[in-house]
Amino acid sequence: MAAFGKQTIRDLEVRGRRVLVRVDFNVPLGAGAITDDTRIRAAVPTIRALREAGGRVILISHLGRPDGVVVESLRLAPVAARLAARLGVPVHAVPECVGPVAQAAVDALHDGDVALLENVRFHAGEESNDPGFVSALAALGDLYVNDAFGTAHRAHASTEGIARRLPAVAGLLMEREIEIMGAALASPRRPFVAVVGGKKVSDKIGVLRNLVGRADHLLVGGAMANTFLKAQGHATGASYVEATAAGVVGEILAEASRAGTHLELPVDLVIAPRLGADAPSRVVSVDGVPDDQMALDIGPETVARFAEVLRGAGTIIWNGPMGVFEMAPFAAGTMGVALAVAGSGATTIVGGGDSVAALEASGLADRITHVSTGGGASLEFLEGRELPGIAALRDRH
Ligand code: 3PG
Repeated sequence: MAAFGKQTIRDLEVRGRRVLVRVDFNVPLGAGAITDDTRIRAAVPTIRALREAGGRVILISHLGRPDGVVVESLRLAPVAARLAARLGVPVHAVPECVGPVAQAAVDALHDGDVALLENVRFHAGEESNDPGFVSALAALGDLYVNDAFGTAHRAHASTEGIARRLPAVAGLLMEREIEIMGAALASPRRPFVAVVGGKKVSDKIGVLRNLVGRADHLLVGGAMANTFLKAQGHATGASYVEATAAGVVGEILAEASRAGTHLELPVDLVIAPRLGADAPSRVVSVDGVPDDQMALDIGPETVARFAEVLRGAGTIIWNGPMGVFEMAPFAAGTMGVALAVAGSGATTIVGGGDSVAALEASGLADRITHVSTGGGASLEFLEGRELPGIAALRDRH
């Protein structure tokens, strides 16, 4: 396991102290209800440890993108109720995140109590990291803990600004995310296989560049594979191809051959004349895409080849789906890869909102070593970038 270079809640004496804890409770909502509470469950160990140690736990989160105004549907009260159920203790939902109402709520806390402040993005000062807003938040606590790995790539008031004002350490989820993903990047058990998918090469350039030299195998699927196939001279028909990424794709292919990384592209594809669950689909080889058809998933032979590589892996990092998995005719590639990853026996790490959703849909999430709670944050981490919410925490030494 890679050493985590930041102090954590184990380094804090919290009894009787007001501990501001940034969590990422930006959970998916459907018709006003929480559709997946993974991020809430993931924060429980830190909250439990702090309250059992006698801290007064004051949780801070955002939900959605209200852009500095109050949006009723993005209030955090339902999240507080779900957290209370998961924790088994009451969670006080505070209807403001700064000012006299928040202050009174914090003043009323006893050791071991838990409160959740209102959506911090109801204030424009959160995203602009406004010093006045940072002060208003910091006034509510004595200590600061960042357990919001999913938001660690944002330099906002509650993730970065406040860490510069109060003694600031990492929570247990933050530590686990960084340790597991950091170890996979720094000293992976080999063979190290990276599976990268999704629509756009341009969204994944940083990840591809950072992984291509480190991984022994790089398996590329999803619509972004079309851009690679086109660069290799295949006819891609009406498939989505990112013309402006041709140069980058050429560089990645060159780097793979220079570094000895086996970069594998689809050998067959599921095609259809249009994107639709009822569109007539069929499997063709990569050289058989007609002008009026588009590739919407990897084909069965590609799944078998990818599965063969995954079977022998020591470490697997997977980011991005292999096709339009939300529609049944184009889901088999992503589900096939999910099965192969889950059954591999390797250390397996899955990040990115879409691949995690596909994994949840397949019911295989509990067979994965680590399912990251970060979407954009895990991408930026895999790009090898320093995340501002982590950089601002106290160093271990
Ligand atoms: C996420 O869901 O990826 C995080 O909560 C960050 O949300 P944001 O992209 O709105 O900053």
